[in-house]
Amino acid sequence: MRIAMIGAGYVGLVSGACLADFGHEVVCVDTDERKIEALRAGRVPIYEPGISELVLSNQSARRLSFTTSLAEAGRGARAIFIAVGTPSLAEVGSADMRYVHDAARAIAKVIDDFAVVVVKSTVPIGAGDEVERIIAETVPRDRFSVVSNPEFLREGAAIEDFKQPDRVVVGVGDDRAGAVMRDIYQPINAAGGQMVYTSRRSSEMIKYAANVFLAMKVTFINEIADLCERLDADVVDVSRGIGLDDRIGAKFLNPGPGFGGSCFPKDTLALSRLAIEAKAPIRLVETLVDVNDKRKVAMAAKVVKACGGSVAGKRIAVLGLTYKPKTDDMRDAPSLVIIPELQAGGAAVVAYDPEGAKMARDMLPGVEFVDNAYACLEGADAAVVITEWDEFRALDLERVKAALAKPVMVDMRNIYPIKRMKALGFRYVCVGRGFNGEG
Ligand code: UDX
Repeated sequence: MRIAMIGAGYVGLVSGACLADFGHEVVCVDTDERKIEALRAGRVPIYEPGISELVLSNQSARRLSFTTSLAEAGRGARAIFIAVGTPSLAEVGSADMRYVHDAARAIAKVIDDFAVVVVKSTVPIGAGDEVERIIAETVPRDRFSVVSNPEFLREGAAIEDFKQPDRVVVGVGDDRAGAVMRDIYQPINAAGGQMVYTSRRSSEMIKYAANVFLAMKVTFINEIADLCERLDADVVDVSRGIGLDDRIGAKFLNPGPGFGGSCFPKDTLALSRLAIEAKAPIRLVETLVDVNDKRKVAMAAKVVKACGGSVAGKRIAVLGLTYKPKTDDMRDAPSLVIIPELQAGGAAVVAYDPEGAKMARDMLPGVEFVDNAYACLEGADAAVVITEWDEFRALDLERVKAALAKPVMVDMRNIYPIKRMKALGFRYVCVGRGFNGEG
């Protein structure tokens, strides 16, 4: 099937490449000429394990191509995906629908035969109706159908999440469009994957509810971790003990410095806004947004405490800047709050991140960037792990101690064994691991 994918950003590129790998003929469209130029030349502008190989192999098989012209991409396409950004609107926090509406107007000009317009961008409930209304201004209603098909891709595992998803959610109102969607996802269906067919509005709601629930799980365990510190319990055992209950599930129960990234912060805000506007406010969500924001600031205070009450004049070595490992994404990363707090307290911050430095450089003025972990630790008064990259787990801890001016380690992701850290003579501060971890 010929498919047009509007938006060659993270979601569009991963979805486009995976759909091409399923055997479809996919044309990705983006208004950014430099991006399209780079992609045509085989240079992939995002960091995601496996994406370059997938793009290149499908390009050479002539199933995947790139253009700036929607007219060209839309010609003969049975499905036109909208995968453009829906950033938070400043101050209010609701999703900015500008790019989705622009895409709808552009699509209206290119639909020739029947086409299914698939909204993959995360959009407020009811947004599909508006997309339909815009297109129907110029295209007869029997020539198109608007479907909701949210993405659940985790950065760092996006290809696997696309190809072997827990489920594919399709919000569709008519059989003709349903049949097209079934064809698109036939390889997943054939492999026994779960397909959830529902109304368009329910599908839009599923996306928000899923992300916000996961953000809530993380926030819940973060608060339990704080309580564990006060009451001398170990959150790692608590997570395991509750996670083995099938009704709770073990995933997303690792405490840390607060969630970040391109989705959770944006979607929690957007859902709480949407609920207020619909006169059914969700206080739980409003609270979790607030708790998560404050947590990032509290994490900086944890470092200050570990340094004896002040970081003035101290050199702090930060390991990990991105909001999670296996990505170069810095959006809403806890490091963007923690580091400026430490600098405001008078610290000199030196940082190392395996992939994030390029993006972080402009976002973190005054930080000294180095290109390996040991160089970062050299002569520092404390080490702080903000992101749990595997290479930090594998550090030679004796060498870490020797490199530091003072053996202070604040581990915001609980990646080191407490006993070993104590035996080596570290002042080891982690998250939610009772008095042993020194809270
Ligand atoms: C998320 C959703 O998982 C995905 O389905 C959706 O489509 C996009 O948003 P992503 O933002 O890539 O994906 O990251 P995710 O792995 O979900 O982590 C989000 C944040 O929660 C990160 O900051 C991470 O560090 C934090 N987190 C996650 C924890 O602190 N503890 C956990 O146990 C899990």
